[in-house]
Amino acid sequence: MYRCVTFFCAMFLCSSFALSILKENDRKVIVDIIQSFNKPSDVISNLCWTNTSKKKLTISLTQANKPRSIKFVSALHDNDLVYPEKIIFLIDVSCKETKAFLNEAASRKYFGRPHRWFIINRPANEIRVPLEIDNMHMLPDSEVYVMQLINNSYSINLMYKIKPNREWIIENYGNWSTENGLTISSHAKEALAVRRRDLARASIATSMVITDNSSFADLEVLQYKQIDPVTKSGYHQLTPLYEFMNASREFILTDQWGYRANGTWYGMVGHLADGTAEIAGAVLFITEERMQHVEYMSHPMASSVKFLFREPPLSYQNNLYLLPFQASVWYCIASFVMVLIVAMYVSAYWEAKKVKEKHKGDDTAVLVPTISDVTIFVMCAISQQGSTVELKGMLGRLMILILFLVFLFLYTAYSASIVVLLQSSSNQIRTLTDLLNSKLELGVEDTPYNRYWFMNEKEPIRRAIYEKKIAPSGSKPKFFDLTEGVLQLQKKPFALNCNLGVAYKVMEKYFYEHEKCGLQEISYLQDDNPWQAVRRGSPYREIFKIGLLRNEEFGLNDRTNRIIYSKKPVCSVRGGSFVSVSLVDCYPILLLLLYGMILGVLLLLVEIFHHRKILNMPCGGGKSQRLLVDTTPHSELSDKMQVAEL
Ligand SMILES: *[C@@H]1O[C@H](CO)[C@@H](O)[C@H](O)[C@H]1NC(C)=O
Ligand SMILES: *[C@@H]1O[C@H](CO)[C@@H](O)[C@H](O)[C@H]1NC(C)=O
Ligand SMILES: *[C@@H]1O[C@H](CO)[C@@H](O)[C@H](O)[C@H]1NC(C)=O
Ligand SMILES: *[C@@H]1O[C@H](CO)[C@@H](O)[C@H](O)[C@H]1NC(C)=O
Ligand SMILES: *[C@@H]1O[C@H](CO)[C@@H](O)[C@H](O)[C@H]1NC(C)=O
Ligand SMILES: *[C@@H]1O[C@H](CO)[C@@H](O)[C@H](O)[C@H]1NC(C)=O
Repeated sequence: MYRCVTFFCAMFLCSSFALSILKENDRKVIVDIIQSFNKPSDVISNLCWTNTSKKKLTISLTQANKPRSIKFVSALHDNDLVYPEKIIFLIDVSCKETKAFLNEAASRKYFGRPHRWFIINRPANEIRVPLEIDNMHMLPDSEVYVMQLINNSYSINLMYKIKPNREWIIENYGNWSTENGLTISSHAKEALAVRRRDLARASIATSMVITDNSSFADLEVLQYKQIDPVTKSGYHQLTPLYEFMNASREFILTDQWGYRANGTWYGMVGHLADGTAEIAGAVLFITEERMQHVEYMSHPMASSVKFLFREPPLSYQNNLYLLPFQASVWYCIASFVMVLIVAMYVSAYWEAKKVKEKHKGDDTAVLVPTISDVTIFVMCAISQQGSTVELKGMLGRLMILILFLVFLFLYTAYSASIVVLLQSSSNQIRTLTDLLNSKLELGVEDTPYNRYWFMNEKEPIRRAIYEKKIAPSGSKPKFFDLTEGVLQLQKKPFALNCNLGVAYKVMEKYFYEHEKCGLQEISYLQDDNPWQAVRRGSPYREIFKIGLLRNEEFGLNDRTNRIIYSKKPVCSVRGGSFVSVSLVDCYPILLLLLYGMILGVLLLLVEIFHHRKILNMPCGGGKSQRLLVDTTPHSELSDKMQVAEL
């Protein structure tokens, strides 16, 4: 009632004297205070003073120790606010236009950071909140100085509320008197956010992503760390922040991180965007779209969502049977074989001719000079089989010696390599493209964020991974429960996109020591660093920021991460296990056997066909007889030889 009366009196006074006169001391106080800020300050004032008073103030400000600019305006214009952090609004509550100016500022949210306000209040016997701002919300991020003449000395105070409907808090900035000039209170030198961090148990809402009903009860106990780990670690990371700001926690639950659909945000980001929550209860990824609603503050945990797999056996990526020799060696061997065949043929031909001249008898132990016999002979040497036929001459024997010796060494080197290669694993999967082209099966941990990011990925390789390997059309998308996925990782060549820290924890439980070796990680998400976010434009932003950085500096984040997530298991017994040779390892060989058999059957058919044709001819039956007798065993032999090569 009393306030109301004073208000109407003031209104009456103002309207009766449209222009007020600036007192000499008022001007000095204003200039002294603005000088005391010690930072660039452009004053924008909405005042109903006489032109002389305005001129005097302008002169005082521009001629001061640290000159400041001043501009008199009748309404707010955006182009005055190019550098909002430099602006100080100067208003006098005894002017009647002030109310409209303040309303305009409130609707544009100019009371928050980084604007500063300087309000000249009416003289009184005690410190009062000016009536004009009484129902406005100057929250902890505001910087509103109120100057008031009290019993011959000026008192300059900062006024704010912790939350919109709480009472005003008045902080003394300094006093001004003619004798002492300006005295600034000592605690005003502390940063605003640090000074105001005690929120007196005000409730600050956290939006939490809970996908399992049991999680909320488990936040403190942490019995099931693999369920909702991000929310649980977020809860523990924010606990010190709430203690730092002496606030009480209010939880708002949702089951989504929050994406945009049909123009509105839902989930956690939705809560931040519409102002129901101030702070995100779980870390989230940075995206351009989210930027306009959330502000990313700190980075409490390392990137953690990646494809995890054990290095697959080498045979998953390569044909083992070609690996022991380099390509050039293979070419050399092939040409060497050619040269040998020709040389052997020449030698055998020469010998046969000589033997025919000498003995005219038939010796079955001598190599017959036909291309097929010579080839078979060389093949016998390659596959270490020996031969019943030989060359009798000195030149021929020398060649046979070289032939068998060379292939003995090649064979030894080759088989030694194969044994090693069968046991080794491939480290050739290094990029997403490798992963896409590999024989590994892919799976994804079933979390809301994984579902969203995989389904909405636009980049071609990532899109192909999703469409070809994770959700091929016509089959169920491969989203797994974490434990189920990790167990698949143990059983077969498989890659799981999961939260690594938690997957490692599960691995510690189920894996044998040797299975913890050769673990590889490949990041799927484009930017996989999760950040702690708060609502954009939150009045507690600075307090959050200081509190969150403090958590980081004090190692509190690290402590939480160590409790909830596990580090990559150490591989202590590499090679302690024996991998049995699987069908995949033998695949190229079985293929060779199959081709050999098909070729054998084809040759048989060709021979039968050829034989028929020759029998039907009037002469040459004897020759064909020999052909049939000779070649059938040869084709058998060639099969045998291919088997032996295995
Ligand atoms: C004050 O100055 C403004 C512009 O500078 C002028 O329009 C106005 O008439 C002046 N008022 C008086 C009372 O001199
Ligand atoms: C100002 O003077 C009045 C009356 O003399 C007195 O009641 C009041 O306490 C004084 N205020 C201050 C801040 O000294
Ligand atoms: C200013 O005056 C008030 C009330 O008289 C007093 O409580 C406060 O300590 C003074 N501030 C300074 C900086 O002297
Ligand atoms: C927190 O706020 C309450 C209520 O204002 C207050 O009683 C308490 O002392 C404050 N605690 C700390 C540590 O400042
Ligand atoms: C979780 O709780 C909600 C509401 O209380 C209920 O509708 C839902 O079926 C519950 N889910 C599970 C998995 O228990
Ligand atoms: C978006 O709108 C479409 C069509 O109006 C509707 O089918 C869909 O469910 C909406 N999505 C959400 C998340 O509301």
